[in-house]
Amino acid sequence: MYILLVVFIAIARISSENCDEISQLNLIVYKTIDSAAENITTSAIIKLNDDAFHLLLANQSIPRLCVNVVQIMNELSVLQIINSSVADIDPGAFHIIPTLTLLKINFNLLTTIKSGVFNNVKAKEIDLSRNFISVIEDEAFDNNTSLQVLKLNHNAIKEINPNWFKNSHNVYKLSVIYNELTRIPAYAFKNLATNRALKLRLSANRIREIDPESFAGCGDIDILRLNGNKLVSLPREIFINRTIRLLEVNTNRLLCFPDVLYESKLQRLEFLENSQFNCTCLGQVRTFVIKSKVDIMYPAIICEDKVREVNWVYNFNKTYEIPLLVTSTTERF
Ligand SMILES: *[C@@H]1O[C@H](CO)[C@@H](O)[C@H](O)[C@H]1NC(C)=O
Ligand SMILES: *[C@@H]1O[C@H](CO)[C@@H](O)[C@H](O)[C@H]1NC(C)=O
Ligand SMILES: *[C@@H]1O[C@H](CO)[C@@H](O)[C@H](O)[C@H]1NC(C)=O
Ligand SMILES: *[C@@H]1O[C@H](CO)[C@@H](O)[C@H](O)[C@H]1NC(C)=O
Ligand SMILES: *[C@@H]1O[C@H](CO)[C@@H](O)[C@H](O)[C@H]1NC(C)=O
Ligand SMILES: *[C@@H]1O[C@H](CO)[C@@H](O)[C@H](O)[C@H]1NC(C)=O
Ligand SMILES: *[C@@H]1O[C@H](CO)[C@@H](O)[C@H](O)[C@H]1NC(C)=O
Ligand SMILES: *[C@@H]1O[C@H](CO)[C@@H](O)[C@H](O)[C@H]1NC(C)=O
Repeated sequence: MYILLVVFIAIARISSENCDEISQLNLIVYKTIDSAAENITTSAIIKLNDDAFHLLLANQSIPRLCVNVVQIMNELSVLQIINSSVADIDPGAFHIIPTLTLLKINFNLLTTIKSGVFNNVKAKEIDLSRNFISVIEDEAFDNNTSLQVLKLNHNAIKEINPNWFKNSHNVYKLSVIYNELTRIPAYAFKNLATNRALKLRLSANRIREIDPESFAGCGDIDILRLNGNKLVSLPREIFINRTIRLLEVNTNRLLCFPDVLYESKLQRLEFLENSQFNCTCLGQVRTFVIKSKVDIMYPAIICEDKVREVNWVYNFNKTYEIPLLVTSTTERF
């Protein structure tokens, strides 16, 4: 009992010590969107004395955002904490009364986003790019009806969790570029907005597999970017009963598209650098593109048409015929 108590006190002391240690911080305040920067020096608490447009904390040292450390009671649109060694955010760190347009915590050392951290934050966009985030607890972004855009680019996220965004029905844009995703699971986006088309940016990961049910529960998709992954195929289900307006799958290992794509209302398709793409399928894409007036970017591939004795050249947004290159025997002499 006594030992436990000692351990408890020791732990409590370590955490509160960390919290007491916040030395001087230099804040930069922009009163309006185009006013000059003003310096404010504070200790312990990040707060504003007057209404402002933008509050910026950059190149400071604040390894842990402790309970109550950010207290914004005045009007504010943009709050940024950049390159300030933030490694930990305690639930209850933010007390922010106004609805922010943007809360940005970039170039820091975050590894885990805990549940409840954003519970007292009303922000339309939260940008946690350029950290080392590998864990986002299930409830971290729950119950947040103000939230519309979440950016998690340049982190170490290994999975999209279908349980994120419970009761946060307005999230329509999710950006997880340059992470470590290997697959998109079933129902991955089921809690995202259904009242507007989604924008999903999942390029530069290692995605090999998209579950056929990955988009189950989602409506239309305005933008789906999957460039720079390891996809060999796309499941046909993602094109059924749904419009995907723009699809980018450049730099993958695709061989063909599912037939249903050619009946979809796709408006723009990019699949540059899929060097093994099947020539029969390329012909189907060409027919579809002409018929449906789709904006297109083809991989650079030459296909032989033996029957008509021509080569079809596919290159960027162009296709053209050239005569079959027959090796002439006379040339040798
Ligand atoms: C604010 O502080 C920084 C660093 O201390 C200094 O370089 C800069 O000139 C200051 N800016 C203003 C507007 O006072
Ligand atoms: C923070 O440091 C970087 C690199 O030294 C510099 O480019 C940037 O202007 C600094 N930001 C502020 C707000 O002082
Ligand atoms: C971060 O701040 C350090 C100094 O505090 C500076 O050397 C470095 O260039 C900054 N990095 C960025 C990305 O601003
Ligand atoms: C997040 O959830 C809490 C609790 O439901 C709520 O008070 C807060 O306003 C929400 N924040 C946003 C960004 O909607
Ligand atoms: C979200 O709201 C539900 C219902 O009000 C509640 O049970 C749950 O604990 C809330 N989640 C978080 C993370 O606040
Ligand atoms: C697509 O919608 C039609 C008509 O609403 C429905 O009959 C069909 O089951 C749906 N297909 C899928 C795969 O959800
Ligand atoms: C290309 O696809 C067609 C039709 O799907 C198939 O018959 C053919 O074997 C494929 N060609 C190659 C080289 O895989
Ligand atoms: C192909 O792309 C070029 C430049 O990106 C553009 O000017 C041209 O209109 C496009 N052609 C077609 C047929 O879409």
